[in-house]
Amino acid sequence: MRTHKCGEINIQQLGATVEICGWVHRRRDHGGVIFIDLRDRAGLVQVVVDPDVAEAFSIAEHVRSEYVLKISGVVRNRPAGTINTNLHSGEIEILAKHIEVLNESETPPFPVESDIEVNEELRLRFRYIDLRRTAMQEKMKVRRDVTRNLRQYLDDHEFFEIETPYLTKATPEGARDYIVPSRTHPNSFFALPQSPQLYKQLLMVAGMDRYYQVVRCFRDEDLRADRQPEFTQLDIETSFMNEQEIMEVMEEMIRKVFTDILNVDLGSKFPVMSYDEAMRRYGSDRPDLRIPLELIDIADEMKNVDFKVFSGPANDANGRVVAMRLPGGGDLSRSTIDELTKFVGIYGARGLAYIKVNDLAAGSEGLQSPIVKFAPDEVWVKVMAKVGAENGDLIFFGADKSQIVNEAMGALRIKLGLDRNLLVGEWKPLWVVDFPMFAWDEKAQRFTAIHHPFTAPSCSVEDLVADPGKALSRAYDLVLNGTEVGGGSIRINRTSMQQTVFDILGIGHDEAREKFGFLLDALKYGAPPHGGIAFGLDRLVMLMTGASSIRDVIAFPKTQTAACPLFNAPALVSEEQLKELGIQLRKPDSKSEKKV
Ligand code: AMO
Ligand code: AMP
Repeated sequence: MRTHKCGEINIQQLGATVEICGWVHRRRDHGGVIFIDLRDRAGLVQVVVDPDVAEAFSIAEHVRSEYVLKISGVVRNRPAGTINTNLHSGEIEILAKHIEVLNESETPPFPVESDIEVNEELRLRFRYIDLRRTAMQEKMKVRRDVTRNLRQYLDDHEFFEIETPYLTKATPEGARDYIVPSRTHPNSFFALPQSPQLYKQLLMVAGMDRYYQVVRCFRDEDLRADRQPEFTQLDIETSFMNEQEIMEVMEEMIRKVFTDILNVDLGSKFPVMSYDEAMRRYGSDRPDLRIPLELIDIADEMKNVDFKVFSGPANDANGRVVAMRLPGGGDLSRSTIDELTKFVGIYGARGLAYIKVNDLAAGSEGLQSPIVKFAPDEVWVKVMAKVGAENGDLIFFGADKSQIVNEAMGALRIKLGLDRNLLVGEWKPLWVVDFPMFAWDEKAQRFTAIHHPFTAPSCSVEDLVADPGKALSRAYDLVLNGTEVGGGSIRINRTSMQQTVFDILGIGHDEAREKFGFLLDALKYGAPPHGGIAFGLDRLVMLMTGASSIRDVIAFPKTQTAACPLFNAPALVSEEQLKELGIQLRKPDSKSEKKV
């Protein structure tokens, strides 16, 4: 139908007759001459329609935005002064000879040609129009380029791309499952995979050596800007490689995709930090290292002060007291500090103490704060020295159970970093290692796996049983600018260790057999040492395109309430389908009723 794409035509086709197809991006009637910017995936080209070409002109008089046209014409230079250096085709225009309307268009619900902000629900309902907008076309292109680049790297490094089932059994990654009823097995359900974790491990037992898959994962969990109920992983597994070897290969892959696609050098070696250090210094296991603020422990200094709010947690093994210095923060107004106090409240903090450092040389006199009176001069001198305070700074304090302090002060650190433009450097990758194996769930009074239950500990079965809370895992996360873009581990490859971990997690022998019998069996038949990682492809592309939401890099994403406004899914099914599946619906009780 066409000889060229709109956006590809340039000075090289000067004088040639070309045929192009595309959408009317913009139409301008300059009294006598009509200009049409025609758009396709490759870009825009300007078409001029002169009244002397009567038939084309009368068609051009009636076309409107988003009509689909086929135009043939001659490529000519644009008149001096009308050259558009922003366009690939900006030096030329096409003088139309024939115009054919391939299809008409109603007025779109929002303009395609401008980048004005449009309500997201509307964008998702008319996603096929939203995706025509330049910003979305660019994001889809980066996504295609990134995926192709990663695939190429893995193909070049002897990884086999192997598909694994979507209709399967629960694979625990910490979220709820999406389940699918089986017609042929009444009362039984498939679960959609939270990840292909167990399949890829079985592929290693099967001698596949190196596997990867660009694969959809399904997790019914609370959604956020960087989470979707179905999302794509670049899922990877290897045999006979230890964690250093795996991290090295993966690091090279990520470094290459950044160089090839963004021309960004992520540095020769990504820094590696222990989970402990990350929590201590940043209150988070995925610290954004672009933000130069740090949490400093001051429990030792606060053990004997008169202020219970501080001395309580300082003397509690599960408590934490920290200070965080905001250089030059003395200019923060009372109302801003009140807002920040409210902000940390979201994370359970019961207050946000602070000290304005007016004059260090003047001792307590030079410190402005309602809490200064609670401790003697020498305590504050020590604290100020420890945090490296300077005149004009503001020092924030957090004191509570460690978890609350970490979450609240960690979030405050990020907020201040972003609000006050403190970011240093553009890209800060980081490996986080030495995670604990288990976290203690106070409410349920049991251990839960920090990664998944198939992650190997770095200790023996005996040591693991002796003190599960102390054991570290052989897991590693890749963090980029405060986002966890990938996570993986060396896996358990012996039945005895796997059984021990199930025991600690409170999964009894019968339940383990019923849920994971196939894995326990497979581990008995020569399971090689193996390990791998999975990258969140959507998150990676989100970071690489500078998108503020993961939804912007997914062609057809779900909303925050895990629905699809385009197809109107999820939806009711017919009585007949339910009958066939042997399902009888219960009336939703008011609590579980669908949120609107
Ligand atoms: P994990 O659960 O850490 O590990 O997932 C790997 C990566 O997937 C991305 N991710 C998500 N992206 C968007 N929406 C979500 N809801 C979502 N959940 C996770 C993150 C994360 O780092 N089987 C293991 C991997 C392994 O051990 O090899 C797993 O799934 O970027
Ligand atoms: P109060 O004596 O309760 O008025 O508290 C004095 C200061 O300590 C106020 O600025 C409070 O915001 C702050 N504060 C109270 N509880 C905490 C806490 N758990 N962590 C940090 N600061 C707190």
